[in-house]
Amino acid sequence: MQPPPFPTSRPRRLRRTRVLRDLVRETDVSRRHLVAPLFVKEGIGEPVAISSMPGHRQHTLESLRKEAAELASLGIPALLLFGIPASKDAEGSQAWAPDGIVQRALQALEADLGDDVALIADLCLDEYTDHGHCGVLDIRGPGEPVVDNDATLERYARIAVAQARAGADVVAPSGMMDGQVGAIRAALDEAGFTDTAVLAYAAKYASALYGPFREAAEGAPRFGDRTAYQMDPGNGDEAVREVALDVAEGADIVMVKPALPYLDVVWRVKQAFGLPTAAYHVSGEYAMVKAAAERGWLDGERTMLEVLTAIRRAGADLIVTYFARDAAPLL
Ligand code: PBG
Repeated sequence: MQPPPFPTSRPRRLRRTRVLRDLVRETDVSRRHLVAPLFVKEGIGEPVAISSMPGHRQHTLESLRKEAAELASLGIPALLLFGIPASKDAEGSQAWAPDGIVQRALQALEADLGDDVALIADLCLDEYTDHGHCGVLDIRGPGEPVVDNDATLERYARIAVAQARAGADVVAPSGMMDGQVGAIRAALDEAGFTDTAVLAYAAKYASALYGPFREAAEGAPRFGDRTAYQMDPGNGDEAVREVALDVAEGADIVMVKPALPYLDVVWRVKQAFGLPTAAYHVSGEYAMVKAAAERGWLDGERTMLEVLTAIRRAGADLIVTYFARDAAPLL
């Protein structure tokens, strides 16, 4: 459709008043789109503030329960849980221990909140391994060890079952191992958890924007980086292929991460697959807005709402965001 030229067309007519603008707005963000990430740490007596993520803390089990109840009362429908164990080993075995910190957190939150809130468990090994990589290492070759893809899948399968058993509604593999969604789906089905959904971190980039998260989750790699498994920021076609693989393996929801620098990818994924699509507005994206707002360089609230709206406009159905708590009362 071609609009008639000026002066017949005057787009400003519909921007004249707030009511008119609201009437023709194409995209809304509401609370039902928000997923709030939370960190729970084993072996601390008090919650610990995360300095690079103002407003966020590493929770004790008790403070987590309180925070989750508050988020639920604000109308936030889903939580994404990350655990930091008291002890780490080469395999990351606390990730699937029945009494591991995330399993205990899931049990507690399931008892507190039931079906009022969807419990999503991040499924990865970097917080649990002593070397900080997202999988088990192959140390046989010369030079730096590499993450062993297929050996890691076995561990992911165990984690998925442990998380489902503890009460996760959704498990969210974030390690970017090939075949992870299929391995997890098969393990869940075999254990009888056919109704546990998989949210796949399908197109996850090797991003500098995860910086503050490393402080929050204590999962920074001790050597090297994640470029051998996470995606190269220059690639868009590859993202579509990554998502296609996860869809074929049974992903129920597909996610792009980070969000703002990758909105073209969010758009392509939503257009290509039409599946429930999530975008993860990551720690560094949150920290940038918070830091600028603290200095008075940006209006933090307006920036937050604009960012969330833009992510929705690009096609995201769900937004994982550290802003969930701040945004909910405004939506
Ligand atoms: C891996 C994981 C990471 C994030 C979520 N899951 C870190 C990484 O891949 O290096 C980052 C999230 C954020 O920055 O907010 N378990």
